Amino acid sequence: MKIFLLILLVQTLVVLLTLSHLDAAVEYGNQHRPKKTYIIHMDKSNKPAVFADHVNWYESSLKSVSESAKMLYTYNNVLHGFSTRITEDEAHLLKNQPGVLSVIPETREELHTTRTPDFFGLEKSYSLLPASDKVSDIVIGVLDTGVWPEIESYNDKGLGPVPRSWKGKCESGKNFNSSSCNRKLIGARFFSKGYEEESGKIDEKVESKSPIDDNGHGTHTSTTAAGSSVSKASFLGFASGKARGMAPTARVASYKVCWLGGCFGSDIIAAVDAAIEDGVHIISKSFGGSYPGRYHSDTTAIAAFAATARGILVSASGGNNGPSTTTVTNIAPWMTTVGAGTIDRDFPAYVKLGNGKTYKGVSLYKGKQLSDKVLVPIIHGGSASNDTDEGNFCVPGSLIPEKVNGKIVICIQGRTGKVQAGLVVKDAGGVGMVYTREHQSTGEELSAAPYLLPAAAVSLEKGTEIRTYVDSVPNPTATIIQGTTVLGVQPSPIVASFSSRGPNLRTRRILKPDIIAPGVNILAGWTGAVGPSGLARDKRRVSFNIISGTSMSCPHVSGIAALLKAAHPKWSPAAIRSALMTTAYSTYKNGKTIEDVVTASAATPFDFGAGHVDPVAALDPGLVYDTTVEDYKDFLCALHYTPEQIKTVTNTNFTCNASKVYNVEDLNYPSFAIPLLAEIDDFGAVTNVTRTVTYTRTLTNVGTPATYRASVSKVDVVKILVKPKSLSFKKAYEKKSYTVTFIANNMEWGSERFGRLEWSDGKHIVGSPIAFTWT
Ligand SMILES: *[C@@H]1O[C@H](CO)[C@@H](O)[C@H](O)[C@H]1NC(C)=O
Ligand SMILES: *[C@@H]1O[C@H](CO)[C@@H](O)[C@H](O)[C@H]1NC(C)=O
Ligand SMILES: *[C@@H]1O[C@H](CO)[C@@H](O)[C@H](O)[C@H]1NC(C)=O
Ligand SMILES: *[C@@H]1O[C@H](CO)[C@@H](O)[C@H](O)[C@H]1NC(C)=O
Ligand SMILES: *[C@@H]1O[C@H](CO)[C@@H](O)[C@H](O)[C@H]1NC(C)=O
Repeated sequence: MKIFLLILLVQTLVVLLTLSHLDAAVEYGNQHRPKKTYIIHMDKSNKPAVFADHVNWYESSLKSVSESAKMLYTYNNVLHGFSTRITEDEAHLLKNQPGVLSVIPETREELHTTRTPDFFGLEKSYSLLPASDKVSDIVIGVLDTGVWPEIESYNDKGLGPVPRSWKGKCESGKNFNSSSCNRKLIGARFFSKGYEEESGKIDEKVESKSPIDDNGHGTHTSTTAAGSSVSKASFLGFASGKARGMAPTARVASYKVCWLGGCFGSDIIAAVDAAIEDGVHIISKSFGGSYPGRYHSDTTAIAAFAATARGILVSASGGNNGPSTTTVTNIAPWMTTVGAGTIDRDFPAYVKLGNGKTYKGVSLYKGKQLSDKVLVPIIHGGSASNDTDEGNFCVPGSLIPEKVNGKIVICIQGRTGKVQAGLVVKDAGGVGMVYTREHQSTGEELSAAPYLLPAAAVSLEKGTEIRTYVDSVPNPTATIIQGTTVLGVQPSPIVASFSSRGPNLRTRRILKPDIIAPGVNILAGWTGAVGPSGLARDKRRVSFNIISGTSMSCPHVSGIAALLKAAHPKWSPAAIRSALMTTAYSTYKNGKTIEDVVTASAATPFDFGAGHVDPVAALDPGLVYDTTVEDYKDFLCALHYTPEQIKTVTNTNFTCNASKVYNVEDLNYPSFAIPLLAEIDDFGAVTNVTRTVTYTRTLTNVGTPATYRASVSKVDVVKILVKPKSLSFKKAYEKKSYTVTFIANNMEWGSERFGRLEWSDGKHIVGSPIAFTWT
């Protein structure tokens, strides 16, 4: 599973390795052919009249290719059809049966806050927020690892009865009693059939076949979105204060689809199918695949389309594969894709060396501290090991106790997770750890971890200086001093190094990610099933934990979307996303562009999309770029998807109009991505061609009557023309269109330029990022 969560990354890797093992142990069916799970999408309008109902029809179609196969799930909302486990040959036969629209192979995805309300200015802006009783009508469906209901963050004090429209349920099972639900946690379900087909029956000694959260991730994300207010929250004394989710009176419905072995497409579709039926308003999804497939084979894109078509906003994490470019995932244009930034809070730990120098790192260590006056020897892991390489990475069992005893050990990131590496050092008798990197700078180290010995994670640059010191003197010494929580860190936010970046791999003309939100060192609720590090040996139990990832930024946006939905119940998911994006900020108060931690200089829309979410401004955006389900279908026509592929995504009987011209440029998106062809002449020189492209957009007035004027930033090699230059809206919900023409000079391959288009009536600024690439 790619829960987009950093701390657990290494454990997750271990799980993945184990799992690919399982994959390799191919299961043989009757015909000695390996079986796989497939999602079968049936064309509902083609059901022959002889079948009493759809399920009979599905069963009959399946029986015609396989006597023994059983349906895992039948689907009614996301698509009409079912999932089943059959051989590849049977899948081919099934594909050719009448009424079978598509046969999609199973996919596996992986799992990719107290101070944040203050950080947003939400505490000070209560009067601007929708009344809490309106917010309590909103249900956020969280697809994740389940929920740990016993913590204070799920208290339902002051909440009225469950909304009458709610049709969901609270399922019981191992370690989870259906009476655990209350007026806050109003639904809890689990979906494991696809997972169990792939990985074998769940071993209930290892994980619970119930909505209970054995991992912590789902408890963290759901309480970030909508955790109730807890006045004395902290993680081991760090980040102490009031903790609450973004929409503290919204309701939570938990859909457990992520297991030790990952999050499977057939389960995800079943969960969204149920969430639609249950009546959720927002879906939050903090996991994804590492490589986004085409929309008709991407189970998340298909499920999200069905949800969007019913007015449910789907917010998803963009992934933790940054800072490499073109890594962003969960990119369908009907989803809201969220990257991660920092907040103004830090958990410093200082490495003091024998040469008098001190380096700031980060750590969440709570326990017996080292002396800040008496320095102890510091060594490379590799110099205390029979295998230098393994020792440097502090691989379990690689350190020789006699050589480590009483010392601080330097461990390199790459093969052992942060907390785990610390345990390896501790087990060998070490008294402290400096954790650093060897290659590829990612800028200042930011993600703090709950170590079990004094430790500090430092950047590549600082780590290199510390390692050079260790090599340069005969008896190097050091100590590590844990600091306390630091608030008011500036500049903030900055884009996190791990946050996945654009451009959009699938559709270059749609900018992704859409937005960033807090995703570094976020405090939120935690499970009682495992300790804060997730390691089996970590016996600590906490009801709050501090973790990092786009997994953490996504539920911030989900919760804020719930506030917007409560304030504006009629707004479509696209209108809500537009409000979030056009009011996001991409500069600090001093006018400088938001930084990227990796470069310590200006980030770009490929890093932060429209910018950092601003919930208060989003409530009153003035204008929105609304997008209908029909627009998304037109978008698929523009991509030349076949009629069957379009039906697979949209679950509707839609065909492109052969005499109509469809353009991706015309999808009414609140941002602009303009990929241009870079051309060179026979001698390899950049030729001086100019290229002109025009994008059309339509704005809807969601404020009072007003006249808006366009302004664009200056881009050296592109002329940007907006027509008309001003738009007058006489009434609410009036729509006005404009075109924006980009006249671009030819540039070298790989060049990028960025700009911004703003519409303003003097009161609102409706801003859109523009990103040019020459490819
Ligand atoms: C679906 O489209 C086909 C072809 O356009 C048409 O014949 C059929 O009646 C439609 N079915 C429904 C249920 O709208
Ligand atoms: C579930 O909780 C209720 C109320 O606390 C209790 O009466 C019941 O015995 C519990 N059921 C199980 C199976 O634990
Ligand atoms: C290192 O090698 C020595 C000699 O072969 C062996 O006794 C010792 O167990 C090894 N230590 C580790 C940690 O591998
Ligand atoms: C198809 O597109 C053409 C050109 O835009 C339009 O005139 C016609 O009405 C469309 N047909 C349908 C069935 O929508
Ligand atoms: C550049 O453009 C000008 C005018 O369009 C043309 O005359 C000239 O030959 C071009 N130069 C190159 C190097 O292509």
